[in-house]
Amino acid sequence: DGTVATAADLLDWYDRNARVMPWRVGPHDRRDGVRPDPYRVWLSEVMLQQTTVAAVRDYFHRFIARWPTVLDLAAAEDADVMGEWAGLGYYARARNLLKCARVVADQHGGTFPDAREGLLQLPGIGPYTASAIASIAFDRPETVVDGNVERVMARLHDVHTPLPRAKPELTALAAALTPQARPGDYAQAVMDLGATICTPRSPACGICPWRDPCLARTNGTAADLPRKEPK
Ligand code: ADE
Repeated sequence: DGTVATAADLLDWYDRNARVMPWRVGPHDRRDGVRPDPYRVWLSEVMLQQTTVAAVRDYFHRFIARWPTVLDLAAAEDADVMGEWAGLGYYARARNLLKCARVVADQHGGTFPDAREGLLQLPGIGPYTASAIASIAFDRPETVVDGNVERVMARLHDVHTPLPRAKPELTALAAALTPQARPGDYAQAVMDLGATICTPRSPACGICPWRDPCLARTNGTAADLPRKEPK
């Protein structure tokens, strides 16, 4: 209806509706500008590659209970870490996890690099994970694009180009909306919006903080987006 989608409107929604996750800080701390522990953010992002939030939760708690810091994890026996990982799948992730913990311990004194470029040098950290950690743990204005973000952007701007061809366009749209203030909360807010409101089927457009500026809602195309290239 002519209004423009803003990060501020989404952040207001996030302040009231953020999902509680063991690697996030609560709303009170968030208001005080407290950032989450980079070790916890990294561990959660690696676990969440190809695995759902619900499936990750218990594994995350067991890892943190057993290895509270990256230095503890770096000192762990390989077999113990592989044992705790059992069931999460994609075991190369667990081997890279240990490799990464040991590089952070041995070459960075147990402190994670605080920006995307430094994070990208670490084992098992690709472009998505580097942006996610830089944004969520260090509040860097990086653009974090996962499947949720692609869906939200495709609908907000009514992009009919099929995936994966639409990826560069959706990434540019996501980048244009990323705010300089609270980019880490913003990144998680788009993910939460995609997971709880702007869902693949039957999106809850009526309660969406971006319902007014959403072009797919205006045009009645939300449920058909994003389009996928036929295989
Ligand atoms: N999926 C991957 N990272 C996530 C995060 N930080 N919050 C919610 N879902 C996620």
